Amino acid sequence: MKIISVVGARPNFMKIAPFIHVVKKYNKINGNSIEHILVHTGQHYDDRMSKAFFKALNIPKADINLGIGSGSHAEQVGNTMIAFEKILLEEKPDWVIVLGDVNATLACSVTAKKLHIKVCHIEAGLRSGDEKMPEEINRLVTDRLSDLLLTPDTLSSENLRKEGVSDEKIKFVGNIMIDTLESNRNKAHKLNVAKIIESNLINGQNLIPRDFGIEQNSFALMTMHRPSNVDKKEILEPIIRFLLDKVTMDMPIIWPIHPRSQKQLQSFGLWNEVIASERLILLHPLGYHEMLKLNMISKIMLTDSGGLQEECTVLGTPCLTLRWNTERPITLRKNGGASVLVGNNITRIREEYKNTLKLNRTPDRPELWDGKTAERVLESILKAKI
Ligand code: UD1
Repeated sequence: MKIISVVGARPNFMKIAPFIHVVKKYNKINGNSIEHILVHTGQHYDDRMSKAFFKALNIPKADINLGIGSGSHAEQVGNTMIAFEKILLEEKPDWVIVLGDVNATLACSVTAKKLHIKVCHIEAGLRSGDEKMPEEINRLVTDRLSDLLLTPDTLSSENLRKEGVSDEKIKFVGNIMIDTLESNRNKAHKLNVAKIIESNLINGQNLIPRDFGIEQNSFALMTMHRPSNVDKKEILEPIIRFLLDKVTMDMPIIWPIHPRSQKQLQSFGLWNEVIASERLILLHPLGYHEMLKLNMISKIMLTDSGGLQEECTVLGTPCLTLRWNTERPITLRKNGGASVLVGNNITRIREEYKNTLKLNRTPDRPELWDGKTAERVLESILKAKI
């Protein structure tokens, strides 16, 4: 059997790692009966956004890199399709595996399907209901076309059934990202926080290394990169004001900043103020273990990332999700998870921030988030009768 797996952007890397390790194990026992080719579309290309994750998670270098890079969504998707089609015509795989909801997921599922190659979607069935999010469009199209839809939770399976997907295409396998979390927990635990800060600090800040006062439960951890939060000054500025005027008065904030958010802060003239704060620690995008370590010991998480909502649920980190909706309702406190939706309205953020500070860390373990999802993924592909 020949499989091509596709990755494009940072959140894909922690999802493909366990699958690659499971295929390797299977091949050892079964005489290399699976030929696996890893294709990187190149959407994320900075070392810190891409290469660092391959190294940390022991992912072999991609066999093929399409070198797509930055651009508008149409450019990224179009260029990926053109390049990926050539690979498919040459390699003729039995399966193409796509993950999550990034532009590579959409581009490669459409391309494979048009060439009558079977598509398997890992992390199928998530729905935010918000078609203004590029990721939602990517999910809808990919799920509509995929032959095998592997879901992380039963709510996602239900979403697919409601959309008319037949039962035999849906398989509830659990959350593959949690495989990565579980196998890297111990390594992350051993890291030193002062070292993480020192080695990732963005230049020009008024901070004295080793004097950050960072201990367990003494800081807020923050990430924010969604276009809906960072692309408009009238939305971004009040959030920055809240961070500087309120949160930093209570505790330091550590913010590993995404390139998009840094660019926007600079273009809106907010960068100098942010960088001047002694209590807002701006870091370059962190490696997998570094981020996991900070998440394990932070008092509170503020984020608009889907993956972090999930990791907070398993680690129990009280989380404010800076979005109005989520495709991952299983991570919400009302469903047993750790997060609450606060959107980008400051009154709401302020209120939930206050409530959340009173909470203690309470880890949750949704069904089949057990670190063994990759095995079920491979088993589902091997057994698929399509
Ligand atoms: C993408 C995903 C999003 C995911 C996020 C995680 C889509 C539609 N979105 O969004 O779901 O949560 O990745 O990071 O696929 N840039 C760099 N270096 C890089 C990569 C990007 O500087 O290595 C810059 C780009 O030039 C661009 C900005 O960051 O200006 C955004 O990058 P892009 O790949 O378009 O989307 P993300 O916002 O990262």
